[in-house]
Amino acid sequence: MSATASKPVYNRKNPCIARLARAYDLTGAGAPKHTRHYEFSLQGSGMEYLPGDSLAVLPQNDPDLVDDLLQVLGADGSEMVPGNDKAPKPLREALITDYAITQPGKKFLRAFAEKAGPESELAGLMEPGREKDLESYLWGQELIDLLMAAPSVKFELEELVGTLQKLVVRLYSISSSLRARPDQVDLTVATVRYDSHGRSRKGVASTWLAERIDESTEIPCFISPGKGFRMPEPEEETPIIMCGPGTGIAPFRAFLQERRATSAKGKAWLFFGETHSEHCYFYKDEFESYLADGTLDRIDTAFSRDQETKLYVQHRMLEAADQLFDWLEQGAIFYVCGDASRMAVDVDRALHKIVERAGGKTEEQAADYIQAMKDAKRYRRDVY
Ligand SMILES: Cc1cc2nc3c(=O)[nH]c(=O)nc-3n(C[C@H](O)[C@H](O)[C@H](O)COP(=O)(O)OP(=O)(O)OC[C@H]3O[C@@H](n4cnc5c(N)ncnc54)[C@H](O)[C@@H]3O)c2cc1C
Ligand SMILES: NC(=O)c1ccc[n+]([C@@H]2O[C@H](COP(=O)([O-])OP(=O)(O)OC[C@H]3O[C@@H](n4cnc5c(N)ncnc54)[C@H](OP(=O)(O)O)[C@@H]3O)[C@@H](O)[C@H]2O)c1
Repeated sequence: MSATASKPVYNRKNPCIARLARAYDLTGAGAPKHTRHYEFSLQGSGMEYLPGDSLAVLPQNDPDLVDDLLQVLGADGSEMVPGNDKAPKPLREALITDYAITQPGKKFLRAFAEKAGPESELAGLMEPGREKDLESYLWGQELIDLLMAAPSVKFELEELVGTLQKLVVRLYSISSSLRARPDQVDLTVATVRYDSHGRSRKGVASTWLAERIDESTEIPCFISPGKGFRMPEPEEETPIIMCGPGTGIAPFRAFLQERRATSAKGKAWLFFGETHSEHCYFYKDEFESYLADGTLDRIDTAFSRDQETKLYVQHRMLEAADQLFDWLEQGAIFYVCGDASRMAVDVDRALHKIVERAGGKTEEQAADYIQAMKDAKRYRRDVY
């Protein structure tokens, strides 16, 4: 039998059970957000990962929200309903562990609109061509809001459960290296909390991790491979430039731990951004130790709310345009991780500007240069 054949295979159907070993806040008191560091023990599981991989975590719903939902449904939770695997289980348990009960899915919306009747607002919004209107109507509304707003809409419990989607895993970029932290996997997670329609909302997985797990909780998880998001081999001279504002820092902490553990040769440059240097400089001491021992050659930080005007990672990149272009000319790989909707778009724009300005290229030539970087897999993105 080959060595790999005996390795355990973990996936959605057969998850690894990890346990919390340690967790602490990365954001200080007074920060405008709540981001936490988690360390999970993989002891005895044999689960392995590489820097650049993500951890898929299967969360549980908030029991308080489930109880509110049961009240709206007029149920006590002991009623038996089919679980995810069709086997009967008590409704309360099924709503906590098996089904998505926050953002309403299509099947639920269709059933709800049918019951509410053709004159209802939702039925109108479900007409073809009104997808954008439906999206803005639903923004910030959860299943419970729709049910509370229309008490005349009644579901049989089994029927309701039949319209719900499965509770699915959430992915988190792994922020540790197995070489540096054997039998351990670390995550860097922003807790999602917001208010809408007069209720406090909680992101399912991020608040499960932040509020309701302890050392005894079973954390079902498996590895989602990072595919193209990989480091050069340690003996390669290839420089790396890592741009990771916010939780986007996660895979780069893994990269740096791995670089130290393997005495990686190429140069490394990190861009990190958050709101305030005082209470949001994640892993500051660790990164400074990497600078001190040469694991990291340069770190540029952008704290967006430390001054009047916003300062972002792409502004720091533009300030260092000449050096950054030099690194690209030396064959550097450019990595970016974090917010897809705004940050990664602006960082991409900045990269084009840098190649234009520092490289003396036209807009078109810069676009070709960056396309060539992508083709050579020297521009790698892990954005969400
Ligand atoms: C490859 C990959 C890697 C990732 N790595 C990380 C990571 O390292 N760290 C990290 O923190 N996250 C990471 N994420 C994001 C993570 O997977 C989850 O999406 C995130 O934690 C939210 O999950 P949740 O279950 O807490 O929230 P959910 O229950 O999924 O709720 C999020 C939803 O709430 C709604 N919502 C959110 N804010 C508002 C608002 N203000 N108003 C109205 N509605 C709102 C939106 O519909 C949003 O989709 C990654 C994602 C991917 C795909
Ligand atoms: N639903 C929520 O409550 C919530 C909250 C936070 C994040 N998120 C999402 O979660 C993901 C990760 O968030 P995060 O906490 O890791 O950090 P983040 O929100 O991406 O913020 C990290 C840093 O990036 C800055 N930033 C904002 N816009 C930027 C831009 N266009 N270009 C460059 N930098 C920019 C932020 O500044 P400023 O904030 O000062 O502008 C902050 O300093 C993102 O997808 C984000 O959209 C959701």
